[in-house]
Amino acid sequence: MIKKEIPFSIEIYSSVKELSSLDSLLLQQARAITKMAYAPYSKFNVGAAARLVDGNIVTGTNQENASYPIGICAERVLLSAVSSQFANAGIGTMAISYNNLNGESSRPISPCGMCRQSLVEYEERTNQNIRIILSGMEGEVFIIEKAHHLLPLSFMSDDLK
Ligand code: THU
Repeated sequence: MIKKEIPFSIEIYSSVKELSSLDSLLLQQARAITKMAYAPYSKFNVGAAARLVDGNIVTGTNQENASYPIGICAERVLLSAVSSQFANAGIGTMAISYNNLNGESSRPISPCGMCRQSLVEYEERTNQNIRIILSGMEGEVFIIEKAHHLLPLSFMSDDLK
């Protein structure tokens, strides 16, 4: 038996002011787009903004439904939009923020399990790491080097062969 560690690290910044101008802009876009979320049930508005490798910016927000399971997270709305509009475009960085109408929004949230699975497949198919910036509408900012770190031992297309 061997024991293997699968470590990963995150960068923690005390606020958006510590970020580079490009990262700061992307986070501000994620924060601003939360207002386009359709989340009347959870009142938890999530906004995601991606900078593609070619410089284009694409955004997404969560879209809910009275039939609750139909709702889609902001991250997967964004990935679908990128995939539909810019075939196989690599995503360099994605920022995710939220506006919790029932409470605080001063600490980062990170993508749910389904979104992690979608993110790692997007990384794999475009052969491009997605840096992830996480923050609420204010406060600390986490930066993760690639989505794959959020889903170690992930199930991938090769497993189907
Ligand atoms: N949600 C996202 O859009 N992204 C996340 O990373 C976490 C959760 C949405 C799903 C649902 O519309 C609401 O937030 C509450 O779970």
